[in-house]
Amino acid sequence: AITVDPTARGAALDKTMYGVFFEDINRAADGGLYAELVQNRSFEYSTDDNRSYTPLTAWTVDGTAQVTDDSGRLNDRNRHYLSLGAASSVTNAGYNTGIAVEEGKKYDFSVWARADAGTALTVTLHDFGGTLATARRIAVRKSGWAQYKAAFTATRTSTTGRLTVTSSAAAALDMVSLFPRDTYKHEPNGLRKDLAEKVAALHPGFVRFPGGCLVNTGSMQDYSEDSGWQRKRSYQWKDTVGPVEQRATNANFWGYNQSYGLGYYEYFRFAEDIGAMPLPVVPALVTGCGQNQAVADEALLQRHIQDTLDLVEFANGPVTSRWGKLRAEMGHPRPFHLTHIEVGNEENLPKEFFARFTRFRAALQAKYPYLTVISNSGPDDSGTTFDTAWQLNRDARVDMVDEHYYNSPQWFLQNNDRYDSYDRGGPKVFLGEYASQGNTFTNGLAEAAYMTGLERNADVVKLASYAPLFANEDYVQWRPDMVWFNNHASWGSANYEVQKLFMTNVGDRVVPSTATTTPSVSGPITGAVGLSTWATSAAYDDVQVTAADGTTLLSDDFSSGAARWTHTGTGSWSVQDGAYVQTDTAAENTMVSAGDPAWHDYDLHVKATKKAGK
Ligand code: AHR
Repeated sequence: AITVDPTARGAALDKTMYGVFFEDINRAADGGLYAELVQNRSFEYSTDDNRSYTPLTAWTVDGTAQVTDDSGRLNDRNRHYLSLGAASSVTNAGYNTGIAVEEGKKYDFSVWARADAGTALTVTLHDFGGTLATARRIAVRKSGWAQYKAAFTATRTSTTGRLTVTSSAAAALDMVSLFPRDTYKHEPNGLRKDLAEKVAALHPGFVRFPGGCLVNTGSMQDYSEDSGWQRKRSYQWKDTVGPVEQRATNANFWGYNQSYGLGYYEYFRFAEDIGAMPLPVVPALVTGCGQNQAVADEALLQRHIQDTLDLVEFANGPVTSRWGKLRAEMGHPRPFHLTHIEVGNEENLPKEFFARFTRFRAALQAKYPYLTVISNSGPDDSGTTFDTAWQLNRDARVDMVDEHYYNSPQWFLQNNDRYDSYDRGGPKVFLGEYASQGNTFTNGLAEAAYMTGLERNADVVKLASYAPLFANEDYVQWRPDMVWFNNHASWGSANYEVQKLFMTNVGDRVVPSTATTTPSVSGPITGAVGLSTWATSAAYDDVQVTAADGTTLLSDDFSSGAARWTHTGTGSWSVQDGAYVQTDTAAENTMVSAGDPAWHDYDLHVKATKKAGK
């Protein structure tokens, strides 16, 4: 039973409480939210990014072509370019199955080229079935590098498109680009509309970006400090702004090349476009996510602190300031209203991190006293690192501490009261990353139940974001994820629907309530409970799985064979309707058991009726 006292006043909820966390993981940026359709557009892919890469990854050559790195390059940060032979062509395969185009829609092609004046570039868009748009011919005007543009209108819809550039004479090419005209809010260098709209539909209060492990892993040097060659750099905002052809690329922590076409300016602009507060995370000279090294270099630390001050100027400074001027030149004279900034992510070395964090905080608050500077509690939700980090945060009277955890659905059900006992006088909590381990309805339900606990404690938990946000189904490093996509479609998970429900219905104030019972779903199981063999539709009429308190988790009368429990492949396990299900559709076998030791949280009771004579 639930008792509600309508006269009592619970915590007030901030409209910004629920937000999103965007990290370039699972190809969330290139081949994802960033609308560019050409993969490896500037020939910067390298074996440093991924052992399978070459500078011609995603390209095929007809004739002669080689990737060149010499003083004739387009830009010091964009070092490689393509030397294409006379009467030769290169074709780009895009992402997933290819370049996706829609009949009647416009696409903007651009390329930086250097060739003798009069050289003709022919650009075609096609798939295996023929042309997808009228070919375009571009005449090179002068001998130095220059940008050339052409527009296409797709004559057919295709998800397997290819872009080919053919040159009549020897030519150098770089930044070969194709964008849909119809980006989100029609912004130039913009975002893929369906993905941006899925985020916008959440009405997020904030956007945390650009990571995650992406932020504080790799070298703390920036591109220029290492003769332009340092790959695997931590995410440093100055690498990601200015004209796109002058931006570096990087070896992404998640094992691929990131172009920085989606950079800090675009993140700020997106946050503004969807009415969310921007919340950037900067590295603090301690590498995390398994690397765990504190960089002891005072000059480098000071440079990073200055960079962070410059970031605030880039976001908020007047157009007369150095970095405010760059923002204006990029198209946004008005400030972006940055009020929160996070220093560090999941720091495993709390003491070393804290020594650096306090330096950042002092410098930031001296110049920008209105800023909330957010710290973190390490990679786990409990343990020595967590306790040490929290103690340091409390002692230093930090404004807000970022906590992260990924746990089973049962954990989320059992820990609904986590924040009931948090110190009301201590730092506020930013739950910057959390998810129950799965994308099923059960996971969504467990997260929804947990979010009621966040709301009940909204005086302490000020911000919360599910993680990760996006996954390209063909390039997955991490699951579950909130929104899935390929090169032409996107779909929200059950977890997405839960987030949307809460985010689009943020109340004003909690009405306190009490419940007399909570679901009992604890206790390990060590094998199939009550049913130690396969439950087959051949041998059984129906099967029921219940939790210890008698709640039915699933039932199946096998009326439609085993198909009702979605098949994920023989030998693999999935969570379906709250239980672990392995299905072999060929043999019409369905097994309900504990398959994966990491998931032993249910006290399951399985009941099945054996068919007569079996
Ligand atoms: O969300 C995926 C990863 O999980 C993040 O990069 C990191 O912060 C956490 O460990």
